[in-house]
Amino acid sequence: MNYYFITGTSSGIGQALATELLKNENNHVFGISRRQNLMDVNFTPVVLNLANIEEVNGFHFPKLENPEKVVLINNAGQIGDIKPIGDSDNKAIADLFTVNVTSVAIFMNKFISNYASLPVAKTILNVSSGAGKNPIEGWATYCGSKAAVDLLSLTTFTEQQRALNPVMVYSIAPGVVDTEMQASIRASNEKDFSKHKHFVDLKANNELTSPLEVADKYIMILNQPENFKACIFSLRDVK
Ligand SMILES: NC(=O)c1ccc[n+]([C@@H]2O[C@H](COP(=O)([O-])OP(=O)(O)OC[C@H]3O[C@@H](n4cnc5c(N)ncnc54)[C@H](OP(=O)(O)O)[C@@H]3O)[C@@H](O)[C@H]2O)c1
Repeated sequence: MNYYFITGTSSGIGQALATELLKNENNHVFGISRRQNLMDVNFTPVVLNLANIEEVNGFHFPKLENPEKVVLINNAGQIGDIKPIGDSDNKAIADLFTVNVTSVAIFMNKFISNYASLPVAKTILNVSSGAGKNPIEGWATYCGSKAAVDLLSLTTFTEQQRALNPVMVYSIAPGVVDTEMQASIRASNEKDFSKHKHFVDLKANNELTSPLEVADKYIMILNQPENFKACIFSLRDVK
């Protein structure tokens, strides 16, 4: 059995990933989010608020029966309060970093430690963003969080080169995807977000990628690690 632990399976990219993976009866998915809306004999819902550090610390990776492959996909993320720093809500800043960075680091730490002696294919896939490479006004916390995910991933990737049963670590940006997160970006205040029109136009011109297309590319990468040896890249560059 292949085991996938995916955060944020109640919507968007995470939901599409879980749905696609569950088409193969040799896959079992643990879906970690506050809402739960998937049902399958091979799906285990885990209700967890990733902004609550006690709940994150309380999560333990289970002992697995006959694992052939074990994968952690840190997909859950928040865009946060779309406002310049100076006008942002402090709790929203703290919650965003807890969900987008701290919980990712803790899940990686627990996954690597818990399955260290498991001699099977192991992968961590962190869903990053182009926003972690370039500043976008109004998204300072989001950009900062995704830049952190990239270097957290690359450093762990480097550390794992020396591990006995190494874990492959990816930090892969999905492109601009038609999800609830994009809807909240379009619902933000134009005064606080200079690129507001750009994102409204992307949707109006049908230029958003579908979550299904993104999920299929991520799954192809997970199934063909021999063809994807770098840690950080974008799905835009994967044909
Ligand atoms: N959409 C894009 O254009 C785009 C571009 C670049 C990167 N990304 C990244 O892609 C990932 C997925 O985003 P998406 O576009 O699919 O967004 P989405 O449709 O809004 O889904 C976000 C998921 O994250 C979960 N989540 C958020 N806060 C959580 C919390 N406190 N505790 C537990 N789960 C939480 C949500 O579950 P609950 O609400 O049920 O908890 C939901 O399942 C994110 O990391 C995002 O930064 C997206």
